[in-house]
Amino acid sequence: MITSRELIKKYLDFFRSKGHTVVPSAPLIPEDDPSALFINSGMHPMARFFLEGKHPLGSRIADVQRCLRTDDIEEVGDTTHHTFFEMLGNWSFGNYFKKESITFSYEFLTKHLNIDPKRLWVTVFAGDKDAPQDEESAKYWQEVGIPKERIFYLGKEDNWWAVGETGPCGPDTEIFYDAAPGRLLKTADCGPGCDDRFVEIWNNVFMVYNRTKKGELRELPSKNVDTGMGVERVTAVLQGKDDNYRTKIFWPVIEDWNKKTQKEYAGQNQRFYRIMADHFRAAFFIISDGVTPSNVMQGYVLRRLLRRALRAGWQLGFDKRFYLSALEYWSEFYLSTYPEIKGKLEKVKEVIATEEDKFSQSLRRGEKELLKFLRKKDSRTISGREVFYFYETYGLPLEIVADVVKEEGGKIINRQEFETAFRHHQEKSRTAASGVFKGGLASHHPRAIRMHTATHLLQAALRQVLGSKVKQAGSKVDEEKLRFDFTFDRPLTKEELKKVEELVNQKIKENLPVKWEVMGFQEAKKLGALAFFEHKYGEKVKVYTIGDFSREVCGGPHVKSTGEVGRFKILKEKSSAAGIRRIYATVE
Ligand code: ALA
Repeated sequence: MITSRELIKKYLDFFRSKGHTVVPSAPLIPEDDPSALFINSGMHPMARFFLEGKHPLGSRIADVQRCLRTDDIEEVGDTTHHTFFEMLGNWSFGNYFKKESITFSYEFLTKHLNIDPKRLWVTVFAGDKDAPQDEESAKYWQEVGIPKERIFYLGKEDNWWAVGETGPCGPDTEIFYDAAPGRLLKTADCGPGCDDRFVEIWNNVFMVYNRTKKGELRELPSKNVDTGMGVERVTAVLQGKDDNYRTKIFWPVIEDWNKKTQKEYAGQNQRFYRIMADHFRAAFFIISDGVTPSNVMQGYVLRRLLRRALRAGWQLGFDKRFYLSALEYWSEFYLSTYPEIKGKLEKVKEVIATEEDKFSQSLRRGEKELLKFLRKKDSRTISGREVFYFYETYGLPLEIVADVVKEEGGKIINRQEFETAFRHHQEKSRTAASGVFKGGLASHHPRAIRMHTATHLLQAALRQVLGSKVKQAGSKVDEEKLRFDFTFDRPLTKEELKKVEELVNQKIKENLPVKWEVMGFQEAKKLGALAFFEHKYGEKVKVYTIGDFSREVCGGPHVKSTGEVGRFKILKEKSSAAGIRRIYATVE
């Protein structure tokens, strides 16, 4: 029986054998997309490369990416929905297109996962004003062996994928696994798109358009492929399970809880176990990626997940700290896939425990009051405005109210009242938070600003010591340390690291002025300014200059002169992906 970790290994090995470079998962928090709170798919961290038409590591890329979607938190509790999930993906940046993409998928599924080809059904785009019917994909599917009867044409709701309201998008072809061959279809022409006999296992998107802010479709510079395969779901399918939570990803955790509560994994309780398993796992990853609970943005999503998971635990009779062993399990389980979670467990436990201690009482009281309120009415209905009252007074997030109302057999009416009141309430805090992403900084803490200036010095020093093939491939700063990824094809020697560190410290000692000016992007390039996210910048860009040592296009903020940075220290140098090195450093 193939496990989720084996599935990942097989997938990446397969695409490696097809000339793909395997890259590491990006963090859950987008590093260059302030319009989204979380990475929602494997292609999300790559969106900028689709816009540019190339990826710095080659035209064939594959990875496993940690993702989080918040659209249907309320659905979590059934057999298939998740907030956090892992997505396998392979990409072509102007390299192969429909034919190879379809052939690769078919080969991997039937030869490497040994799926019976008779169980594969597919859908392709039916065509509309934006793009024609995808006869090409249908033809390639037939060529590999899928008969016409198992190919369905569906519209935009099913066979079109977009990273967001704007950005890369295109028609897709979806591959389904027939979990109950022979079972009568709900309607004869409906096929895999609308019958739960079929489980979607892979989505191959042909990314050829960019949707602009005005809603217009522009062709991307190249024809690309973006695919996504959900690890949780495919693992369940391969193991013949109709409940994702019964795979090793969750089951040992649920069994352990089960033993402690002596409450069966069945009926209403099943929902509670699943909510706990899903939400605590999501919280584990969100916190590992540096987020703490708050009332805005990512911190608020985390808070909602934690509250709902805690409440699910209380429903099963748990009191306190019942999630610790689960966190320990995942921290071990995922370590080989995401080495960056190493050492994060204690912090995760502490953050959750603090949240638990701070809010348990209020949440429990809120629930009691809510029950009293609902039971007063025969209809058990509650309006959006009343839901907001429970949020504001007791901190009950919408999902908890929805859970309680559902359990009581009631209904929320005029939901939009909640949204309106909530938005109004958040306006103030949002203003405070709106600066957060400017300049790609996770925080504007003074120490983070010093770290940020240090990354500019570091890049210039690396280029001086190792040559100009060094290019930034990513970076992240917080109050504790900085991370800098750059293109280079071998580990650095001790001497080189020492030289780089000394050069940065020398520039700090020289107390060089850090200045910025706004200019046209082309002009900035002409002046030799390094630009990491070429497409991201508008016509006018801000260029930061440090003496005559460094010049970079950047949103800032930075210190005023390098002396403020303090002593620079390299903590570690390691591989980040093929052809990419990573340096961790800090300032003292
Ligand atoms: N980006 C596509 C998806 O998430 C593959 O389904």
